[in-house]
Amino acid sequence: MAEDLFKKLVAHCKEYGYVFPSSDLYDGLGAVYDYGQYGVELKNNIKKYWWDSMTRLHRNIVGIDSAIFMHPTVWKASGHVDAFNDPLIDNKDSKKRYRADVLIEEQIARYEEKIEKEVSKAQKRFGEKFDEALFVQTNPQVQEYAAQKAKLTERMAKALNDNDLEDLRQIILDYKIVCPVCGTANWTEVRQFNLMFATEMGSTAEGASKIYLRPETAQGIFVNFLNVQKTGRMKIPFGIAQIGKAFRNEIVARQFIFRMREFEQMEMQFFVRPGSELEWFARWKESRMKWHRLLGFGSENYRFHDHEKLAHYANAACDIEYRFPFGFKEVEGIHSRTDFDLSQHQKYSGKKIQYFDTELNESYIPYVVETSIGVDRMFLQILSASYCEEDLSKDGKQDSRVVLKLPPALAPVKMAVMPLVKKEGLPEKAQEILEMLKYDFNCQYDEKDSIGKRYRRQDAIGTPFCITVDHRSLEDNAVTIRYRDTMEQERVPIDRLYALLKEKTDLGDLLRRI
Ligand code: GAP
Repeated sequence: MAEDLFKKLVAHCKEYGYVFPSSDLYDGLGAVYDYGQYGVELKNNIKKYWWDSMTRLHRNIVGIDSAIFMHPTVWKASGHVDAFNDPLIDNKDSKKRYRADVLIEEQIARYEEKIEKEVSKAQKRFGEKFDEALFVQTNPQVQEYAAQKAKLTERMAKALNDNDLEDLRQIILDYKIVCPVCGTANWTEVRQFNLMFATEMGSTAEGASKIYLRPETAQGIFVNFLNVQKTGRMKIPFGIAQIGKAFRNEIVARQFIFRMREFEQMEMQFFVRPGSELEWFARWKESRMKWHRLLGFGSENYRFHDHEKLAHYANAACDIEYRFPFGFKEVEGIHSRTDFDLSQHQKYSGKKIQYFDTELNESYIPYVVETSIGVDRMFLQILSASYCEEDLSKDGKQDSRVVLKLPPALAPVKMAVMPLVKKEGLPEKAQEILEMLKYDFNCQYDEKDSIGKRYRRQDAIGTPFCITVDHRSLEDNAVTIRYRDTMEQERVPIDRLYALLKEKTDLGDLLRRI
């Protein structure tokens, strides 16, 4: 059912100008997408919400915009050349390729689903008296599933940490995990696959050197640490934020824009005193969770997930997960990256990367806590949470609508201005209103089709307010406003529209509540 809804959401994104397959004319390119006329507006609003919350709300966080191409040694120093791998496995019958760890994670998720099923059955049985925590702790069936889940999770984490590719394959065999396409367990060996895209820089064959498309934006921040710290006279603790493209040759690129080969990241590296990093890690976890929850999609749909397997650079790591239609999945990662990156760049560049702490009267390489979120994944999270199909049938008359209940501050179009008819001075009046609002808000003018059809079109793209200019408007200087979510209508004076839009769609209001 939820999967069905997800398919409809993907189709909706294409039909209403949110997201198109890249090179659609040539039948698309695997896991690469283009954003359409509404998609780009939503994406820009998400970026602004993030950027302002980082750089405007924190006097000690500044932004940069570093290049996608970087010196090839950067990726040697960061460990990406040697260790940015995914374990892949092929099914010999379907010829499909998978990430071995993802196949196992899906098996782990099956235990979670079984637990959820038991809980919801019991909830129905016991009604109001149901104590979920007690049930989970004491029910033997739930305990059995939880134990199986823990055992498998631990075995996978060990195999990944030890880089034990044979055991990864053995887990897949032991748990009888089959290919989702052909249903057989006819698997190849597990191999490591580097995710970086490489290209060449330079025009002559002899002079060309191999360079990479960056797989994360973070390294652009690390190599600029000294530049920013010195020119900005930044004092620790301080952060550097960046939004930009990243590229990964993902093996399993499924679920629409959830996992792409070209995507955008919003990353912030927070530089702290050695020894204080776990305290900052805990603070950033809470702060980032709050940022997500403020969008109003329900606290119960978010959770933390601590990493079993830590990346080569981290001493703590956690994901913020959202309940997508295909289950709880990562939206953002918060990582305590120690002094690994700066130390490595110091070693490989031969340049000293130290910070002199005037309070301690000593120099050190700062530790780093990173918050890293994908713009595209956040986009998908917001659309999944906003997409609604509503049955509006009344008195035997069938009716329905698809509506995107986007947070007004993020909606691509804030208000649609509609003359009731295309004549008798109403279009001119509507244009006047548009002229008044367009400098501050993205508004749209629509005069085609019946008012009902125009409302439905605006619902489908998530416009929170529609106003209709009718004959009375020419006399009383008022319009009918229709609210997207409730479909209620009321009369408002035209000179109230600016204040109303400001109050209801202002990003500043969200930021104020952080
Ligand atoms: N600098 C740390 C880093 O890149 P990550 O967990 O690999 O960490 C951070 O990525 C975030 O970037 C993820 O939480 C996700 O939102 C986004 N992301 C990563 N790979 C992605 C992909 N292939 N497609 C879309 N978003 C991706």
